[in-house]
Amino acid sequence: MRAPQIRDTYLSYFAERNHKIIPSASLVPSVHDPSVLLTTAGMQPFKPYFLGQEEPPARRVADVQKCFRTTDIESVGNTARHLTFFEMLGNWSFGDYFKEESIQMGWELSTEGFGFDPELIWVSVFGGDEELGLGPDEEAIEIWRAQGLPDERIVRLPRSENFWQAGPTGPCGPCSELYFDRGEELGRPGDRPGDDTDRFVEYWNHVFMTYDLAEDGTLSPLPMKNIDTGMGLERMAAILQDVPSVFETDVLRPLIDLSEEMSGRGYGSDPSVTRAMRIVADHSRGMTFLIADGVVPSNEDRGYILRRIMRRAMQQGRMLGLEPPWLGRFADRTIEIMGETYPELEAEREMIARWVGDEEEGFGRTLERGTEILEALITRSKEAGTSWVEAAEAFRLHDTYGFPYEMTKELLAE
Ligand code: ALA
Repeated sequence: MRAPQIRDTYLSYFAERNHKIIPSASLVPSVHDPSVLLTTAGMQPFKPYFLGQEEPPARRVADVQKCFRTTDIESVGNTARHLTFFEMLGNWSFGDYFKEESIQMGWELSTEGFGFDPELIWVSVFGGDEELGLGPDEEAIEIWRAQGLPDERIVRLPRSENFWQAGPTGPCGPCSELYFDRGEELGRPGDRPGDDTDRFVEYWNHVFMTYDLAEDGTLSPLPMKNIDTGMGLERMAAILQDVPSVFETDVLRPLIDLSEEMSGRGYGSDPSVTRAMRIVADHSRGMTFLIADGVVPSNEDRGYILRRIMRRAMQQGRMLGLEPPWLGRFADRTIEIMGETYPELEAEREMIARWVGDEEEGFGRTLERGTEILEALITRSKEAGTSWVEAAEAFRLHDTYGFPYEMTKELLAE
């Protein structure tokens, strides 16, 4: 099942169940939400509905939301599943249905719509938290049991895993996640959902949005009980296309192919090549979407997030031996893959090309010079038998040569 069919299967299922289908909001949050620089989850644009501050367009809504998670930048490339930019399929109830219907639909769409073998689905539920003054989510456990799930596949997880809050305050609630078991060979014996291996892929989170979290950590009930779910499109694609990582799915593989064509090296030929190709694919895709939504490279706020992923992509591309200017070709290919679903990409094609070209030219020389200096420092450190570079040298790289400190840190770690 290719990505367009996954989006269509999801949205049609909920449209048939009276959900209003709405388009994705921008990656740049609207002014009412100063808590985030970029949209990190499907629920962000809906906060005013959960808080009862605004009327939702309907009680039942479904959509595919563009998301960007800055916190995952450094995980990209190292795992089969982390991305900065991704698409989140979501269904929403604003004071309409709650846990029972959400879980029932989650099960039905997983097994019938997407054809998952019921035996391979595991779930996690909120196991309770003393600080929040909440016990385990017995109600969710009962609903899963009634759905026919055996107790050993209902896993209780702590607040860190199964209590959703977007930032330190605001609408929140316990959640229940659906996992697909990809087989023992992808993990260690005895692995369970929530363990950090590739065996159990968390593909759909159901949040039972019930409380408003205050700054002092206390919970007060929201005006209504709501549902917020999030299904990762790329993870679903990896499962349904039976490929080992999100980078081999139809939404990302063409970007890996481009790296192979341009570098003459093979994805999978060497761990550092695989990692570099993943980073280039993810970051160039994220860059294209951010610029299309009006973000421009700069030294602060979201402009710096954009600059950071562009520079990281350039550094990894250099390692692959890509001849500058090359970054614009990845933007073009992203537009080819995603342009039909997201017309803003095509509409902003020229602006994207301009910003990408300027940034690549501007940072190219810095990257060249900084990398040479850093390589010399590393050689010297090795000769001296140390495992560090002097802080003053890292500062000089930044201050005199404009070489970003986080890049120095990351390259030294590599
Ligand atoms: N808000 C939930 C998440 O992003 C669905 O996982």
